[in-house]
Amino acid sequence: MTFPDDFMWGASTAAFQIEGAAYEDGKGPSVWDVFCERGDRVFEGHTGNIACDHYHRWQEDVNLMKEIGLQSYRFSVSWPRVMPDGKGAVNQAGLDFYDRLLDGLCDAGVKPLCTLFHWDYPQALFQQGGWLNDESSNWFADYAALLAEKFGDRVHAWMTFNEPQLFIGSGHKAGAFAPGLRLSMRELLVTAHNVLLSHGKAVQAIRSRCSDTQIGWAPVFHAIQPESESAEDIQKARDFTFSTWRDDLGDNSWWCDPVYHGHYPEDGLKRWENILPPIKDGDMEIIHQPLDFFAFNQYASALYADSAHGEPTDRGVRGVGRPRTAFGWDITPQAFYHSLKWISDYCDLPILVTENGCSNVDWVSLDGAVHDPQRIDLLHRYLQATHEAISEGVPVIGYCQWSLFDNFEWLAGYSQRFGLIHVDYETQKRTLKDSALWYKNVIATNGGELIP
Ligand code: BGC
Repeated sequence: MTFPDDFMWGASTAAFQIEGAAYEDGKGPSVWDVFCERGDRVFEGHTGNIACDHYHRWQEDVNLMKEIGLQSYRFSVSWPRVMPDGKGAVNQAGLDFYDRLLDGLCDAGVKPLCTLFHWDYPQALFQQGGWLNDESSNWFADYAALLAEKFGDRVHAWMTFNEPQLFIGSGHKAGAFAPGLRLSMRELLVTAHNVLLSHGKAVQAIRSRCSDTQIGWAPVFHAIQPESESAEDIQKARDFTFSTWRDDLGDNSWWCDPVYHGHYPEDGLKRWENILPPIKDGDMEIIHQPLDFFAFNQYASALYADSAHGEPTDRGVRGVGRPRTAFGWDITPQAFYHSLKWISDYCDLPILVTENGCSNVDWVSLDGAVHDPQRIDLLHRYLQATHEAISEGVPVIGYCQWSLFDNFEWLAGYSQRFGLIHVDYETQKRTLKDSALWYKNVIATNGGELIP
């Protein structure tokens, strides 16, 4: 058995991380533009001002996708590029850019998978309270309606949000990501509720404008690893994976239970019973819209459930000197396999992997190629885990590697390289890494080469 015939092989990017042209053609500033300009938050003061210059080089980039044989490409739209103030006036030049990109993808036979929001929130809306403002879900719904009207004829599948856990937890609680807030837990719960409402209203806005489309969203799925592969340990890890135990809303269930099951998880409701946001009649129905797939991002499982601790921990069974990526992330394909199994029990939808990959120490060698055997090995392991789950009946419909290019890696700036394609930021020269050539072969054989 190979992968299913209609399995979608793809790769992902996000607007802020690749587009550049931060202040061109009428684009408004995003919170990440402002955050980078502070100069003290991101590695060596890097910014997204030029990034991979994809805004100007999109045609070359689509050609490279074609060369690799990508069947789908997940990208995000920069909200302030198409609506400079986040609401009201529309920026035609911004819409034109995505029009060209979508036409180019369709001409190249690459299915466009469009994320509405991958963290670059309009600064103008942030100044009006951002996700704390009760109007925020209406602003997002209007933005979604605009994209659905303009691009609905070409987008194959939509995702409302990328990793709400991260832009809310790291951006609004830890103060680490833009906009750098450190809200109280009570306020954080308000932002989360507004993001969930935004998701629901955006799904409604897209659904009512695009009769034949697929809609989902792309949270990170934080898996807790079992201490061993015994049934008891697997169950314990699964229970932790679906419990609400973190202080930054980084959990899976706080976000996924409302979206997929129409209610907040009991343990979280109990934990925060005194500080819950007002949940109005009808809110949960808005949030709980029918979706077409369960999308998720996953890199590593940072924690595991061990018998000595009441909570998931990063201490213990993991070995000294164990293999890790350039970012120091563990390589945990077994947790990925379990995640796929757990998700398929949790909700009855096809599963789409929207991000998976690794940063690696890549450079152009003397022979002109970029040799990245570690990435090939890591992807191989995760794809084998995917195949194992599929062969046990888990309905995985596609896989997007993060990322198509080396790009702006948030706080790490350009110091971490996640791409299948190497980018020389001085010259903007693109070079297909060995992993891109390997992935090309994986796609051409529909994963046949991976099967042991
Ligand atoms: C994000 C990407 C990011 C990647 C690697 C995910 O959390 O969606 O934007 O580049 O992980 O850190």
